[in-house]
Amino acid sequence: MHAFTQYTPTRIVFGKETEKRSGELARQCGATKVYVLYGGGSVVKSGLLERVEKSLEEAGLEYKTRGGVRPNPRVAFAREAVREAIRFGADFILAVGGGSVIDTAKATAHGTANPDIDIWEFWCQNQKLEASLPIGVVLTLAAAGSETSDSAVLTNEEIQVKRGLSTDLNRPAFAVMNPELTYTLPKYQIGCGIVDIMMHTMDRYFTKTLGNELTDEIAEGLLRTVIRNGAAAMKDSHNYDAMSELMWAGSLSHNGLTGLGAQKDFAVHQLGHELSAKFDIAHGASLSAVWGAWASYVYPENPERFAQFADKVWGIRKDNAKEAAEEAITRTVEYFKALDMPTSFGEAQEIGIKNDEELRTLAEGCSYGKTRTIGCFKKCDAEDIYKIYRLANK
Ligand code: NZQ
Ligand code: ZN
Repeated sequence: MHAFTQYTPTRIVFGKETEKRSGELARQCGATKVYVLYGGGSVVKSGLLERVEKSLEEAGLEYKTRGGVRPNPRVAFAREAVREAIRFGADFILAVGGGSVIDTAKATAHGTANPDIDIWEFWCQNQKLEASLPIGVVLTLAAAGSETSDSAVLTNEEIQVKRGLSTDLNRPAFAVMNPELTYTLPKYQIGCGIVDIMMHTMDRYFTKTLGNELTDEIAEGLLRTVIRNGAAAMKDSHNYDAMSELMWAGSLSHNGLTGLGAQKDFAVHQLGHELSAKFDIAHGASLSAVWGAWASYVYPENPERFAQFADKVWGIRKDNAKEAAEEAITRTVEYFKALDMPTSFGEAQEIGIKNDEELRTLAEGCSYGKTRTIGCFKKCDAEDIYKIYRLANK
């Protein structure tokens, strides 16, 4: 087993009606003035926001609500939220929604605690984040894992760049998880969520660091659970057990557990972020659209690792590792298709690549102007990235 540091401070409150405890939980964190963020209105329609507000009132907390966070959340919106939270005197930020709302809440917390610094400076690594406000989460979508992760992802629309910021200050103080809150999700978002949860685990599993037996078993078990319950959730979004398994898996897949002691790859996420920045495609769909191409391109680096994935996740056993790897890649892509997720650029309506030059431009963006490589299973430079995008462009 390899050396690691694991820090997961988020208090998880899981189960039916747990949103009624939001106020009490915020108060326990020392909150007095709570700035509440939500998205485009699903939480208003479902009545969730009203229940959360009632809970804050019962806990004797002042609050101000602000809706309007869009998927692939924008830094411009977060800057406005920072100004409003400062004017209100917020000492706690509460996110009611999915990854986009949570990441905007994280940005708002950082900006409010650092009123003299433009938040994008933290995402560009020009400024080191040293202080923030505590945040809480009422989760409505099992997907991004932001409710326990150390990461927050923002899009700068003006320059069409999507960037993540990783810091322990991104870890929420608490996460309220009631699987019933996900019953209202459209099928498309459930599919995107399943892909994202799987990808947080696979982007860690396909690493150069081998010999972490327990970490591997956890990752493989999580993938099997998500694959099985994902299929059930797509059939019936009111299946409490299936939605529960997805919700819990979403948090565990991105809190660090599934990759302990190993270097993370995360190339597929980087490939996907570039697609979302340029085409505003949903995060999960950006990942499924490129995973098959990435896997086919990189598996010759270590076919045995893919053969292990084939055996433990899909039950495919073959003497020849290359054959097992290829069959596992096909099975995974077929699973994404069964979720109605795009598995190539041609299947993703949002992605409109007209010529080879545009693929080169994408690769240029993803490699930060040829100044970085992505991934560790195979280190991919701008030329590799271009070739992967070209494979996906069918
Ligand atoms: O805005 P509303 O009206 O609430 O609708 C949302 C939105 O349109 C809807 N939705 C959410 N919960 C619902 C619901 N509709 C009905 N019923 C519910 N219960 O779903 C749509 C998508 O929401 P969004 O928050 O964008 O989805 P997700 O949770 O997938 O988050 C995606 C964002 O998180 C980032 C992604 O890049 C993307 O920007 N990620 C954040 C990570 C992190 N912070 O650790 C890691 C991930 O890899 C990811 O990059
Ligand atoms: Zn993700």
